[in-house]
Amino acid sequence: MNRLLPVMIGVALLGSAQGRTLAEIKKAGVIRIGTNAEFKPFTYFEGLSMRGFEYDLGNAVASQLGVRAQWSSQPFDNLLISLNGDRFDLVISSHGITPERQKAVDFSTPHYCSGGVIVSRPGGPKTAAQLKGKTVATQVGTTYVGQIARVVGTKNVRTFPNNADALQALRAGRVDAMVNERFYSLEALKTAKGKLQQGDLLFQEKLGMAVAKGNSSLLKAVNGALKTVQGNGTYAKISKSYFGQDIRCR
Ligand code: ARG
Repeated sequence: MNRLLPVMIGVALLGSAQGRTLAEIKKAGVIRIGTNAEFKPFTYFEGLSMRGFEYDLGNAVASQLGVRAQWSSQPFDNLLISLNGDRFDLVISSHGITPERQKAVDFSTPHYCSGGVIVSRPGGPKTAAQLKGKTVATQVGTTYVGQIARVVGTKNVRTFPNNADALQALRAGRVDAMVNERFYSLEALKTAKGKLQQGDLLFQEKLGMAVAKGNSSLLKAVNGALKTVQGNGTYAKISKSYFGQDIRCR
């Protein structure tokens, strides 16, 4: 792995843009939302249409703000950089709220709580202890990378631009395990029809929506909208339709 990469990303993330204000967004009538739409059931494509829990929730937030949502999909590790480069107003892509990311962007109150789980082929590792000495796949730029490295060491982490590639590497036997989002993994298990198994939850995190650093008018409006949809049944309805349960933080 390129050791300078995290430093370079860190510097790029610290762009100075503070983004369009709420008033500017309202005047335009459109909020630009960035996501990595290969993360079923959070944001994903079904044919040409985007769908998912975060897609529906983002649209509900936009409608609370009185604007239309305009979505674009990008590689996950570009999203926060694009946000600070003013290509989006809001990023909704299951970002774990970490102190490191908080240096670069501002996060909403968490829009759900979840964590990273171990997935392997039947007979493969299911616990953190069993991961020792094994190679583990995940998506580049995610919180999973650091969490896996803590268990198996950096040299045993294999990062992939897309989750689908990480999953494919696991199914093909090129890695011993994958660590990924709990609900994403459940979805992957369904598709694998017994060829993969779920192991332990490796860690828990709070996931938030991101605005450019210092965009306080938008942040306040997003937090207000989230509170409203969590209070009026909209959030629960959306969450249940994708997960069969309400996944808000408790
Ligand atoms: N929760 C993880 C993180 O914060 C992974 C999120 C990946 N999201 C995605 N849309 N691919 O880094």
